[in-house]
Amino acid sequence: MSFPFISPEEAASYIHNGDNVGTSGFTASGTPKVVTVALAEKARQLHEKGEPFKINLYTGASTNDYVDGALTRADAIGQRMPYQGASVTREASNNGQINYYDPHLSHVSQDMRYGFVGDLDVAIIEVTEMNPAGDVILGAGLGMSPTLVQMAKKVIIEYSSYYRTSFRGFHDNYVPLDPPNRREIPIYKPSDRIGDTVLHIDPKKIIGVVPSNESESIRSFTKLNDTTRAIGTNVAEYLASEMRAGKIPPEFLPIQSGVGNVANAALYGLAENPEIPRFQMFTEVVQDAVMDLMQQGKCSFASTCALAFSDQAMLKFMDDIDFYRDKLLMRPGEISNHPEIVRRLGLIAMNTALECDIYGFVNSTHVDGTYMMNGIGGSGDFCRNAALSIFLCPSIQKGGNISAIVPMVSHVDHTDHDVKVIVTEQGVADMRGMAPMQRAKLIIDNCVHPDYKDIMRDYLKITRQGHMMHNLKAAFALHMAYLEHGDMRKVDFGKFV
Ligand code: COA
Repeated sequence: MSFPFISPEEAASYIHNGDNVGTSGFTASGTPKVVTVALAEKARQLHEKGEPFKINLYTGASTNDYVDGALTRADAIGQRMPYQGASVTREASNNGQINYYDPHLSHVSQDMRYGFVGDLDVAIIEVTEMNPAGDVILGAGLGMSPTLVQMAKKVIIEYSSYYRTSFRGFHDNYVPLDPPNRREIPIYKPSDRIGDTVLHIDPKKIIGVVPSNESESIRSFTKLNDTTRAIGTNVAEYLASEMRAGKIPPEFLPIQSGVGNVANAALYGLAENPEIPRFQMFTEVVQDAVMDLMQQGKCSFASTCALAFSDQAMLKFMDDIDFYRDKLLMRPGEISNHPEIVRRLGLIAMNTALECDIYGFVNSTHVDGTYMMNGIGGSGDFCRNAALSIFLCPSIQKGGNISAIVPMVSHVDHTDHDVKVIVTEQGVADMRGMAPMQRAKLIIDNCVHPDYKDIMRDYLKITRQGHMMHNLKAAFALHMAYLEHGDMRKVDFGKFV
């Protein structure tokens, strides 16, 4: 069976108001680049005529400007799940334009198969190779494509010719059986393959193939600064000391590393520490730092859901693709983040917090408990199940007007039951085995910025006696001082005594 080439506009004509639409990819990598832009234009034209047009959008994780950006600007998204990172979509999720639901990334595919969001009308899947039988090679992000093509009534293919080298062999497509028939996921080390390199799509579902030649459009990372470099150094020295103490085996444990500038810096910290041995990764995204670590011989293998390389790094990757063939494997987000495997492999999980509190609770998502930043992503999948769960953050934000460590977090994503270690540029708080008040002392002594140490100690003086001591009236006084005076240091506990 051969499939017709169609224009992005024709592809968009098969998508209707109210449809549930799923897209391939994970982060910007492997997401569609042309059909969604045409769909946004269709929405704009219909809106001009006074006709409604919104789709419900389901993706592996965040996407790119061609998907979230274009569709949000055209006011074409109703429901949205999961994780978003585009500033315009963030704004729309906060002003009520988009109904954004933020589950753990390991849950999204099974939630769809379990029918939580209803039928899937259309899947838009970026591929880099395909044959007439409907066997495709996906691109730089696997996301939840295996589940999407299984569930979708119709599939639109975006055929990318951007990649000048073949991605064949980098994917491990696998869909677990659903309960009550689910079995163990047979991954016993990061490099174990359990699925197929090709993804089969029922040819009868494919309504057409749209050519595209766009890059992922991922910008390079912000260069390391003194703060992020110090966080990286602290985390590496801490892990080296854990090895010396025999708490991490000499062959090390697989690393999971989160998204963003801080997580990128932590990996460079590991690279620079001579005591950290060559390690493997079991993670959901690999960013530019991982390519450097592989070139240096520090990272020998990474299991991931996406190659989230900046455009510049992707060109280098393509030039040297054969070097990476036995070092990288992409899996569906459901597998890259699977709690069973995270627990079995005993990961060292390193994720970034927006804010932590003096007892070890972490807020990864909501500024001032209200404003959604990006989403929980995979941080919860890894945090609860890792052998060692570490959260990283600079001790202050916005030039010191915000302390990232507060008496009580304004929103809880990760609880004190799960978070084991907090690292800032000031130092490390390893809270394992400690009661809440011991944790508070450790975090204040080791991680809080000097401008805020006395403020935290003053807070503790006005709390009620108990196992985890709080003053409910004053718990958010630092947040209120920032909202009212633009500076948490202007907090006045006097009125709460
Ligand atoms: N209050 C207000 N703003 C804060 C803040 C706080 N407590 N902490 C951070 N910010 C702001 C920063 O000032 C910065 O703002 P800017 O863009 O205007 O400069 C922005 O948040 C990003 O902070 P930055 O320090 O650059 O961190 P980052 O790029 O490493 O991102 C998270 C940090 C938490 C936003 C990001 O890691 C995230 O979305 N995490 C949740 C999902 C996750 O962990 N996924 C990984 C699983 S694999």
